Amino acid sequence: MYVPEKKVTNDDLSRSLDTSDEWIRDRSGISERRIVSEGQANSDLSVKAIENALRGKKVDPKELDLIIVATVTPDMMFPSTACIVQEKIGAKNAWSFDLSGACSGFLYAMATGAQFVQTGMHKKVLVVGTDVMSSILNFEDRTTCVLFGDGAGAILLEPTQEEDIGILDFMLHSDGAGGKFLYMPAGGSLHPATHETVDKKMHYVHQDGRNVFKFAVRRITEVCTDILERNGYTSDDVTLYVPHQANIRIIKSSLERLGLAPEKVVINIDRYANTTAGTIPIGLTEAHEQGRIKKGDLVLLASFGAGFTWGSVLIRWGEF
Ligand code: UT7
Repeated sequence: MYVPEKKVTNDDLSRSLDTSDEWIRDRSGISERRIVSEGQANSDLSVKAIENALRGKKVDPKELDLIIVATVTPDMMFPSTACIVQEKIGAKNAWSFDLSGACSGFLYAMATGAQFVQTGMHKKVLVVGTDVMSSILNFEDRTTCVLFGDGAGAILLEPTQEEDIGILDFMLHSDGAGGKFLYMPAGGSLHPATHETVDKKMHYVHQDGRNVFKFAVRRITEVCTDILERNGYTSDDVTLYVPHQANIRIIKSSLERLGLAPEKVVINIDRYANTTAGTIPIGLTEAHEQGRIKKGDLVLLASFGAGFTWGSVLIRWGEF
């Protein structure tokens, strides 16, 4: 994982915005977030996360077969950030593409990458979840700008000969009817950039928070219940639950509804806010670094985001 060094606290934001540390903490669980410095782009964060992921693994970037970068804040519309990353790390033999799944982007990318490993087509697939949300936030809109941060996480998928180790299952969903609740209107072919789109603040995140909240709680609980049931497990079998970090109240509500013990959940929204595609790989990395996952543990990942998109991935943790 990698997060930028610059910390922005709730108090920092409330100096120029009609908000307060108390409101942001109570309503979202966020205390601070990391924000890129000028000139720092998605690919810079992605490369740092990849370097951290590969450190000590003796993997030559030339061995990589595929790089997928999940993001809604690429360096630019094209070329893909994955291609930019490929060049920066010298992964000469890989092919690369970006995947747009918003907050579910990392799980979408993980499931996609896993298919190439499972079929035997590829041996080393790098999956990255990175967003620079500060590049699309209106820092005059208190209903959105306090909620997000910048950050990146990366994993390497490889084959294993061991039975029942690795990605056991995934369930991914989308419902385009939810698109109107969380979106960035301009910058694409529908509303190309003009003075008007800039004046109307159409290049920023727009969110109907209450509606997104309602669907997030319901869908995350549903998909986690379904994936556990389909694999013959209950919440008692889960060692670690890594949910998307959008709101502490969504996380706690899903925890209660799933009947998961509080000590099993990963929470870091207080320090990083919502880093969109970054939240799950960042959470997974921190949990691993803190010694919270060992070989054979059952790890449940869950996400919900713009689209709507949502899903879950179930892992039996292997060697690291
Ligand atoms: O990762 C992508 C998916 N995104 C999510 O999952 C986000 C889901 N939604 C949420 O997390 C919550 O809905 C929010 C944190 C966005 C908002 O919390 P809420 O409890 O739903 O608040 P609200 O939108 O109902 O707003 C309550 C009040 C409003 O004032 P009135 O109309 O009651 O007078 C807002 O104007 O709080 C006001 N408000 C604020 N006040 C101080 C909204 N933002 C702020 C703010 N500071 N930053």
